[in-house]
Amino acid sequence: MLRTAMATRYVVPLREGGSLPAIVEADDLGLYVVKFRGAGQGILALIAELLAGEIGRALGLRVPEIVLMEIDAALGRNEPDYEIRQLLKASTGINLALDYLPGSTMFDPAARDKAPADEASMMVWFDAYTQNIDRTPRNANLLVWHRKLYPIDHGAALFFHHDWPSREKKIAAPFVEIEQHILLPWATEIAQAAKMAHERLTEPVLSGIVELIPDAWLETIPGSVDAAERRAGYLEFFTRRLETSSIFEEEAIRAQTRLV
Ligand SMILES: Nc1ncnc2c1ncn2[C@@H]1O[C@H](COP(=O)(O)OP(=O)(O)OP(=O)(O)O)[C@@H](O)[C@H]1O
Ligand SMILES: [Mg+2]
Repeated sequence: MLRTAMATRYVVPLREGGSLPAIVEADDLGLYVVKFRGAGQGILALIAELLAGEIGRALGLRVPEIVLMEIDAALGRNEPDYEIRQLLKASTGINLALDYLPGSTMFDPAARDKAPADEASMMVWFDAYTQNIDRTPRNANLLVWHRKLYPIDHGAALFFHHDWPSREKKIAAPFVEIEQHILLPWATEIAQAAKMAHERLTEPVLSGIVELIPDAWLETIPGSVDAAERRAGYLEFFTRRLETSSIFEEEAIRAQTRLV
């Protein structure tokens, strides 16, 4: 189960984010980074953020807690900025929020940030499994907080869902984009990470994660695929991609070996 919180105050936009995320305060007095359902990326980016984020957590990675954030029409009413007011208006209902990590910095090898081999290897496995292209030196999407690594921003994962029928072709596929992964230089234990990943991503774990998607999100996706079919499709993708994982694992190990 994910927690639900109610947004009480729009605090400040995070200007670097392409999807206009913002820091928002909620009725539990917590601060969150909210990904808005009304942003240009649309509901599929929120679904990817949720599914990939919870898979990362199941793999033992430190994904900040994901919370469903209710926004009502009153929140944006007094917002002076027109663009923000429109965004909040288009986002009434359930949005996705991540626990805000105050004082975190972006992972930066040029600032001598390093990653432990086991963790880097699991992160590489995770991003290859969920087909996330967004963890590169240009955009690490990896926070360092109290000297530990926190992966964020999984909205671009599971790209197949933008073209639902393409899912079939994407399942048993390598993920050549892995060669751009920011942690690849440290990922010397991909085979071990793969073994652990297989132990952790059991069928009940994966189906539990797919069940977390709010119906209200699935129902707003245009097209002829209904909510139950979508859920089943995601689960099938995850299950069969696990069965055929040697294809992307070998690709990742090859890319890693080429670095040295
Ligand atoms: N949980 C968090 N705690 C602290 N800061 C965060 C958190 N989540 C995101 N941020 C900050 O907000 C920025 C934007 O977040 P995120 O990358 O998730 O949004 P985005 O719109 O997908 O961004 P982009 O498309 O530019 O990569 C991050 O680069 C990071 O600096
Ligand atoms: Mg980002």
